[in-house]
Amino acid sequence: MEIRLAKTAGFCFGVNRAVELTYNLLNEGHKVATLGPLIHNPQAVADMERRGALVADTVDDIPTGYEVIIRSHGVPRTIYDTLEQRGLVYHDATCPFVKKIQSIAARAEAEGAVLLVAGDAAHPEVQGIVGHTRGEVFVFSDLDELKAWKGPSDPQKPIFAVAQTTFQVTKWQESSEFLKKAYTNARIFDTICNATWARQQEAEDLSQQCDIIVVIGGHHSSNTQKLVQVAAKHTKAVTVETASELRPEWFADVKTAGVTAGASTPSSIIEEVLNSMSAEINDSMSFEEMLNASEEKRVHAGSIVKGIVTS
Ligand code: F3S
Repeated sequence: MEIRLAKTAGFCFGVNRAVELTYNLLNEGHKVATLGPLIHNPQAVADMERRGALVADTVDDIPTGYEVIIRSHGVPRTIYDTLEQRGLVYHDATCPFVKKIQSIAARAEAEGAVLLVAGDAAHPEVQGIVGHTRGEVFVFSDLDELKAWKGPSDPQKPIFAVAQTTFQVTKWQESSEFLKKAYTNARIFDTICNATWARQQEAEDLSQQCDIIVVIGGHHSSNTQKLVQVAAKHTKAVTVETASELRPEWFADVKTAGVTAGASTPSSIIEEVLNSMSAEINDSMSFEEMLNASEEKRVHAGSIVKGIVTS
């Protein structure tokens, strides 16, 4: 079996920035609390907790003396107010790409526009974006929901449309096309992050060359689930949080397996999964070398999957 590792697998810029900030503060001896799990990866969060980080659900749960980290998803405006009222020191690790969407939401309010958000209404990033406008908002998760929208309360109101940074690219394209025709005054902002575009595109390409795609990432990670959906259009796609979730039967008759990972997956977990899938990735090629190898070399890097052969 050959294993093809996606070039884009693993931490994106925004997650890397938040994780580095947290570890730096912990290493310098600061008392650190994150507002919600820093990333959608339980193993990485558990490691931070072992090093002393506290995961707080709300600002009220943060003890005095702790420095607060706002994670890359961002938070509603009211959270900044509460942090300041409590006099807590905070570090804002909101990804700059998310910040940009929040500022569009604020502009929508300033210009009296309705804000349309393509995304998951229950996702913290979307809740944060929505929390940057006090104007009219409509969140939709797909074209059907958008088509069912009755339109602005006042037909003269301008419309601003944005997408959650990890929204599925094809769904956004069809929603944008519909908006352009149905609401000619709509201002459409392409806010899907480049890291998401690149990961989904690569997952799509890889899925057309492989008998199975293993997506490594948190079961609650939005971008991980999108990668699974994209890959599943062309081949069998499975998701695992850790190597222990791999099932040998998935690989029966598989000639080529693709591996990719969500934006919150640490390289140590990717390494663990690759090692389990191939007890000897070409013997001479270490994980680091595999990550750095050209695509052509990676294609040939897999060997017999000794680590997961059914016993
Ligand atoms: Fe930022 Fe994009 Fe990652 S929005 S957090 S770089 S997926």
